[in-house]
Amino acid sequence: MTLLSSWCYDGSLPESYVMPPETRPGDLIVPMEKSIPVIDLQRKDRKETIQQIMKAGQEFGFFQIINHGVSEDLMDETMNVAEEFHAMPVLDKERECAKDPNGSCKLYTSSYVYPREDVHLWRDAVIHPCRPLDQHIQFWPEKPNRYREVVGAYSVELWKLSCRILELICEGLGLSLNYFSNDLSQVPQIIINHYPPCPEPSLTLGLLKHRDLTIITILLQTQIKGLQVFKDGRWIGIEPLPHAFVVNIGSLLMFISNGKLNGAEHRVVTNSRDARTTVSFFVYPSDESIIEPAKALVNASNPAIYKAFKFADFINVSIINPDDEALKELIYNSTA
Ligand code: OGA
Ligand code: NI
Repeated sequence: MTLLSSWCYDGSLPESYVMPPETRPGDLIVPMEKSIPVIDLQRKDRKETIQQIMKAGQEFGFFQIINHGVSEDLMDETMNVAEEFHAMPVLDKERECAKDPNGSCKLYTSSYVYPREDVHLWRDAVIHPCRPLDQHIQFWPEKPNRYREVVGAYSVELWKLSCRILELICEGLGLSLNYFSNDLSQVPQIIINHYPPCPEPSLTLGLLKHRDLTIITILLQTQIKGLQVFKDGRWIGIEPLPHAFVVNIGSLLMFISNGKLNGAEHRVVTNSRDARTTVSFFVYPSDESIIEPAKALVNASNPAIYKAFKFADFINVSIINPDDEALKELIYNSTA
């Protein structure tokens, strides 16, 4: 495998990264003025916080949170370790990610399916499960030195934060507060994305337009811009805020909320000056989990838009054997 970070600094953009005109970012100046809502989790008025989350979840599928209770030092340390990881020589990264014979820690470039891609994405990534911590941490990188200690502490905090956000969302949707406290949220993964400086940012992307295949995603970023949300037919840039998290509704929560919450499409643009590193906390169900519109949200006047399906089947037709027709057949309720 050739990671981007091992070769990209001196060259021009290879043909295999040039996107077709319709997916290119083109003009990189996107409006920031109407950026996504910022929600203060320390506000006293819980009802109001819930309303803000629901509104942002419906309109944008994205919001930022501040005063979220995760220590700023831990956020900074996590980002430092993440940047140090991607700055290591390729052979070190490969060795550090090969500790699990079952391959639970994956290092890759572009997407999971690099050999099948027509066009490659301008990013490297490492992904691994993080819960329960004691079952996974021994397979994580041991270099940089503090990786396990810092990312371990970070995943514990992010797990708590994700439970808190999901509880607020449950209350907002009118579901029991423990709706997700089961197989639906128990398999979170940490993914550390790295987007090196890119020679031709207008011709390629760090990530194509996509929805996360998660319940929710909580993203840690630096002050370097790159993430954009697709709203009302155009792209909106997400303004980095110091020590805020970006939260987005994944497609699974869109299905479970029967479309009440919007699993917003987003993408990542690159830039020619700065490397950008981000740490995503993906809240995933177990493979066997059944994803379906919550019964409490479905009735005669609100028929289920989506069918019930097994998470593993969804991943299969979305990523492993991508097939748009099979995907539609799996998720959409044709009687609705
Ligand atoms: C993702 C994602 C955004 C970013 O990992 O799915 O959308 O800015 N990341 O790295
Ligand atoms: Ni994403």
